[in-house]
This record gives sequence, C-alpha cells and structure tokens, in this order.
Amino acid sequence: MKKIGEFPLATKIDSSVSNSLHSAIAKILIIDENPLSRMTAADLLSLDGYEVLEADNLSLILEDIVKQQPDLILLDAMMRQIDSFSFCRQLKEDCRTANIPVVLTTLTNSREDRIKMMEAGGDDILVKPLNRIELSARVKSLINQKRLNDGLNQTEQVLFTIAKAVDNRSVNKGGSVRIASLVKSFGNYLGLTPEEIEDLAFAAHLHDIGTIAIPDAVMLKKGELTNEERELIRQHVLFGEEICQPLRNRSGVLPIIRHHHERWDGTGYPDGLSGTQIPYLAQIFQIIDIYDALTSDRPHKKAYSPTEALQIIMEETQKGWRNPELIEQFTIFIRSQEQ
Ligand SMILES: [Fe+2]
Repeated sequence: MKKIGEFPLATKIDSSVSNSLHSAIAKILIIDENPLSRMTAADLLSLDGYEVLEADNLSLILEDIVKQQPDLILLDAMMRQIDSFSFCRQLKEDCRTANIPVVLTTLTNSREDRIKMMEAGGDDILVKPLNRIELSARVKSLINQKRLNDGLNQTEQVLFTIAKAVDNRSVNKGGSVRIASLVKSFGNYLGLTPEEIEDLAFAAHLHDIGTIAIPDAVMLKKGELTNEERELIRQHVLFGEEICQPLRNRSGVLPIIRHHHERWDGTGYPDGLSGTQIPYLAQIFQIIDIYDALTSDRPHKKAYSPTEALQIIMEETQKGWRNPELIEQFTIFIRSQEQ
C-alpha cells in the first residue's frame, strides 16, 4: 500500500507500477482527508488484493491522477477543504479521466447526496462505515466494467452503454456482469478458444439489448402477459441482432444473440432450431443465462441454491429442452466451483 500525502501523487509512486491500466492487479486511489477513514478503506481493499494509493485533499492534482490512471477512485464526499462533487465533475469532464469510475463515500444515505452524485457523474455512493462485502462487490463490478470499456471501440462503447441502460431496467439488474464472469470460467473449462470466450462475454452484455424496443408496460408488467405481449417479448432476439449488426469484428456474437432462446427439441424461438442446428456458443450461453436467472433474487422469487438450480435445469433437460451432454459438463463444472 502506498501513502500519498501532501505531495503530488506522481512523485510518490514507484515507476514500476506507474501504468497499471491493463495489469492484472487493479489500482484504487482513496481520496479522504480523514486518516482513519483512509486506513479503513485501504485495509478492506488490500484484503481483496488491490493495489491501494492514498491521498488527502492536498494531493488533489488532476495531472497526477491522469499519470497514475487508477482503475477506480474512492472519494470522500464530505471533505472540508474542497467540494468533492465539483472535483468528481471535473474528473468526468476531462476525457483523460472520464472513464475512471468514481465512488463517493458519505456518512448519510441521503437522497440529496445521491442526486448530487448523479449530477456530478459519479458512478456510485457508499455509506460509511464501509461494509466490506458491499464495498468489495461494487468495486469489483465497476472495475470489470471499466476494463471492458477500455478494450472497446467507439461502436462497441455505444452498444454497451445502451446495454447497460437495458440491464438497469431489467428485473435481473447486474446480470450481465455475473453472466460474463461465468461464461468466461465455463468457456475456459470447456477448452474454448479465446475468440469464442470473448464472443460469449460480449453476448453476456448484449444478448437482451433488443428489449430496448419493447415498452415498459410490457417488459415490467406484473400480471400475466397476453399472447401478443409474449410474442413481442420474443422479438427481442431479432431486435438485438439488428441493433448489433455494426459489430463487424464480432460476427460470432450475432448468432448467440439470435439463438439464445432456442431449445434442443426445437420448441424454442425465433427459428425453432433443434439439436446441433443451434449454434454451440448459443447453447452454452443459454445455460449460463438460465443458471444466473435461477440463482439470482427476483421481485417474485428468492434465489435458488446451485443444487436447486441444477435440479431445475436437469428437469428441463429431461423435457428435451437442453443438450444433455452439455448439461452434464455444466453440472460437473458447477460442482467443481463449489469445492
Ligand atoms: Fe433473452
């Protein structure tokens, strides 16, 4: 852990770690004028293996942050000598730092702070004293998102921004990040190529982007859907494929988007493909998508345990909906993760 005090940040950083934009270990800058608060946050983040830099308000020099390029900034919202929200806005308005996630920390979970955070372009807000599990989850999610964005071209960034808005509206909020993580692990387990794994990870974020064309009144309807509404929701795979056509270098993603609701016995949509007619990556993706839905909390149900989720997937396989061989591999994979 490095302590940055009254000097510009860059003068206190070891040059070997001065540019860790894409290194395996993410770098987090904590800006807080209270030494005890800084130390607490630094200790918690160090436990998760992050490289931690600390600064008090005297070190708030934008150029140093530009040089250091931290993967995330944890910024105290209650500092006496500066206006943290203005500083956050300054970071977000500068194209050299705009992509660095900023998490503000406050003592109160007030609506006013939350609105100010959003107006300043902040990415999240956490209440002190920091809860380790909450801090860990938010930081991990934001860093994953940043690293993903760092590797995208302009078209991809636009699509991912739309996809994030879709994800936020969905009842499975945050699902895309979890699915991306699981498809990578399962893809590696199956021995897929890096390109195939990347296609799956892209699909994790984009697969339901087509739901943006479906009105809230249908997507968020609590009661039973009419046949017309059900048919409209089914169209999301076609809307999604069309929206993602500009992904020229990622043509492998499109079949996953189009076919992630097909069924092994041909009763799925949109094309009623069966067996090996269904693209292999779409089969893999579908299993992860379903597993994530089953193991996550939803407004109408609690999360199932991994064992319960596997049992439900097995029952669906017996009905003929999934590829039995792939399900067997998936079951072994999930069991191996539990050990
Ligand atoms: Fe879908």
